[in-house]
Amino acid sequence: MTEVGLVLYPWLKAAHVIFVIFWVAGLFMLPRFFVYHHESALGSAEDKAWIERETRLRRIILTPASVIVVVLGITLASVTGAWGQGWLHAKLLFVVGLLGYHHWATSYAKRLARGERKLSNKRLRMLNEVPGVVTAAIVILVIVKPDLF
Ligand code: HEM
Repeated sequence: MTEVGLVLYPWLKAAHVIFVIFWVAGLFMLPRFFVYHHESALGSAEDKAWIERETRLRRIILTPASVIVVVLGITLASVTGAWGQGWLHAKLLFVVGLLGYHHWATSYAKRLARGERKLSNKRLRMLNEVPGVVTAAIVILVIVKPDLF
């Protein structure tokens, strides 16, 4: 690592982890909101309040945090020269999974805003488990750094 890289590295990593926390917290919250949203009557004041909360969560936390996590992650991998390491390749697969989940959750919020309620609360509760499992796998990969392919 260069001298500049050595100075930047802990700050980049701290910022990366802070925005990971914001992003994952948002990914936990949004489907929880959907469960409560489903319980409101279509077109009611409560329905409108949930649409407002979901839109704010998407725009203020979820989308900016996901972009910052990816940008800082790419910067970290470049500073540390981790691109050739197997644990990072495995981690990137899970990151793509988390981005896919993010895309599903934000699309579902837009559908709810249009009055479409496709999923049962049971299915939503099951889907709510996905980010926790994926985040656990990512944290194990970055901390343990297993010697993979
Ligand atoms: C394009 C996406 C990403 C890239 C390229 C990336 C890359 C990296 C790199 C290179 C490190 C430094 C590892 C080290 O030097 O020890 C790191 C740290 C970390 N990353 Fe990411 N990351 C990305 C997304 C994520 C996501 C989505 C999460 C969690 C949901 C995450 C969680 C963490 C954590 C917790 C650390 C700190 C590990 C430690 O304490 O050493 N990253 N990341």
